[in-house]
Amino acid sequence: MKKLIFLVPVLFVIGFIVYWANEQKGGEAPVLRSQGTLSYAEDVEDLLISRCMNCHNAQQAKAGLVLAEGRGYEAMVDKAAQQDPSLRLVLPGDPESSYLWTKLTGGASKGKGMPRGPSGWKKLPREELELIGSWIQQGAKP
Ligand code: HEC
Repeated sequence: MKKLIFLVPVLFVIGFIVYWANEQKGGEAPVLRSQGTLSYAEDVEDLLISRCMNCHNAQQAKAGLVLAEGRGYEAMVDKAAQQDPSLRLVLPGDPESSYLWTKLTGGASKGKGMPRGPSGWKKLPREELELIGSWIQQGAKP
């Protein structure tokens, strides 16, 4: 019995390493499906669904934002942000003035950076940020 007690911290450390390795992986680079101008449905939606849906779905819409399939575009493009109604969540052609962008890059005036993880802001991998930024820059096409 005494020997087993020593296993507890060992298992804890192994568990932590597995968790940490998963966190670092972060997901593969996004796959571009459109030729030319980026499109929400083809290039951006799947990424946001996998990264954000835990907290921004129809049952649980944090800050009123639903990013479920077929809903995200309508919810964000040219729509006022709940946390700062003077800004659009997505202002086509202008990522810097888009509240979504400020949340993803850590410059928002309210709340935390997105997406949230167990220990606060868990910034998206660079390729994913670039994809979202370019989509807005290119006019935020559906
Ligand atoms: C673990 C839960 C969680 C995840 C995952 C998450 N969010 Fe959020 N989100 C919140 C909460 C809670 C708020 C409100 C408080 C805050 O801003 O910190 C919020 C607020 C927001 C807002 C402000 C909306 C407005 O109109 O003011 C935006 C934009 C946003 N999230 C985008 C995203 C995006 C994009 C992702 C995925 C990349 C994401 N969130 C992932 C919990 C989450």
